[in-house]
Amino acid sequence: MKRESKDLDDPLEIKRISSGIPGLDELMEGGFVKGSTNLLAGQAGTCKTIFGCQFLWEGLQKGENGLYVTLEESAKDIINDALQFGWDFSKYIKERKCNIVEMKSIDLNELTIFIADEIKSLRAERFVLDSLSVASMSWKSSPEELFKIRIGLFNFIKSLKELNVTSLLISEIQRGKQTLGRFGFEEFLVDGVIILQLVEMDVPMRSIQITKMRRTNHSVEVHPFSITKKGIVIKKI
Ligand SMILES: Nc1ncnc2c1ncn2[C@@H]1O[C@H](COP(=O)(O)OP(=O)(O)OP(=O)(O)O)[C@@H](O)[C@H]1O
Ligand SMILES: [Mg+2]
Repeated sequence: MKRESKDLDDPLEIKRISSGIPGLDELMEGGFVKGSTNLLAGQAGTCKTIFGCQFLWEGLQKGENGLYVTLEESAKDIINDALQFGWDFSKYIKERKCNIVEMKSIDLNELTIFIADEIKSLRAERFVLDSLSVASMSWKSSPEELFKIRIGLFNFIKSLKELNVTSLLISEIQRGKQTLGRFGFEEFLVDGVIILQLVEMDVPMRSIQITKMRRTNHSVEVHPFSITKKGIVIKKI
């Protein structure tokens, strides 16, 4: 039977996932590309965790399940800190719509399997890893191992894509370092890169910049933001 053209999936049609951050979606054609993997990089205290929670909370308000994997702060602290912005994850955790899981740095293949299983069992559409930097701490990074890590990270991201989950991989930038991740190649493997910074102007200013987003005509400017009672809000420039 001949199929009507409207029945066919349009490969050019891109579904967008709202970030949940007022003012951000309009800087990236309506949101993250559904199923994309994005690096969220910043120095200490630049609001990476708040961003991750806000992204997950937005999904829950839209009926999209979400997984948050934390390697540094306890799940309890993440849940308690989120309450100050009015995001009560505990209700969704009880309903198995959301999970905030603590884990330690493990081998990259084991990490890939563990996270894929958690995403599947939760039917998560959003995923936050806080952080890739801590997750990778036990990975040997001698020159001969680097190639294996790059392939392993590529496979990790591939498995997230196969699950069609929209992901934020948080990366810690150390002061004085030029790279956005521990290995230097993380930013090449992901679909999108967002950098959070505290810029030293006359007065220190929190800022956000989208430096990469595949399939997206995005802003590349540095945008100031503030923390309000409802979380991160991008200021107009
Ligand atoms: N209620 C609030 N109002 C204003 N600013 C806040 C509030 N809560 C937290 N902050 C700011 O957010 C920062 C912490 O944000 P967050 O934990 O998301 O940072 P982070 O980038 O994850 O830090 P780390 O690198 O230590 O994990 C605090 O240092 C503070 O400056
Ligand atoms: Mg954090």
